[in-house]
Amino acid sequence: MKVDLYEKIWMWGVGVMLALFFTSTAVAAVRDSLQPPSHVETIDPTRVMADARFRTPGVSVDAAGHVQVRIVGMTFAWLPADITVPAATPVTIRVTSMDVVHGFEIVRTDGQTMVLPGYVSQFTTTFDAGEYLITCNEYCGVGHHTMAAKLHAVPRAQWHAPAVAASTPTQILAQGGSHDRR
Ligand code: CUA
Repeated sequence: MKVDLYEKIWMWGVGVMLALFFTSTAVAAVRDSLQPPSHVETIDPTRVMADARFRTPGVSVDAAGHVQVRIVGMTFAWLPADITVPAATPVTIRVTSMDVVHGFEIVRTDGQTMVLPGYVSQFTTTFDAGEYLITCNEYCGVGHHTMAAKLHAVPRAQWHAPAVAASTPTQILAQGGSHDRR
C-alpha cells in the first residue's frame, strides 16, 4: 500500500501527540496524585437541610481556625446566594445537591466541582480580594441559567468570622418564626 509522504507525516504526528497526552495524564494521576476535586462522602439528598453538616449553610470557622463554606445546590439556586470569605486564606468549600446534578463554578478561579445528589463535593482554594460570580455549569433544567450566586473575598483584616448561628432554619420554623411570643 502506498501512503503519501505528507499523510505519513500526519500519521506519525498524531501518534506522537496521543502518546504525549496519555503520558501526561498518567504522570499527573500517578506521580502527582492529581484527582478530581471531590471525595467520597455520602449524604441522603432528601434530608440535606436536616443533616447536621448542611443544617446551617454559609461560612464558619472551625476550632482550628480553618474557614469553611457549606453550600446547598437546588433547582434553581445556590444557598446561600451571597458569601463573604477572607482573601489570601485557604477556604474549604463543601457543596451538595438536594435534587439533580449541578456544576458548581466560581468563575475565573480554579474553584469548580460537579455537585451530585447523594454526595458531598469538597475542595480547598484561596481567593484574591474581589467579587466573584458563582454559576451552575451543568445543565439542570429550565432555570439553569438563573442559578447564580456571589462570592466576595475581602482583605483578612476587614473580615469578621460569622457568629455561630443561634438557631437552625428548622428550629426557627418549628418555633413559628423568630419572634418572641409570650
Ligand atoms: Cu444547576 Cu444548572
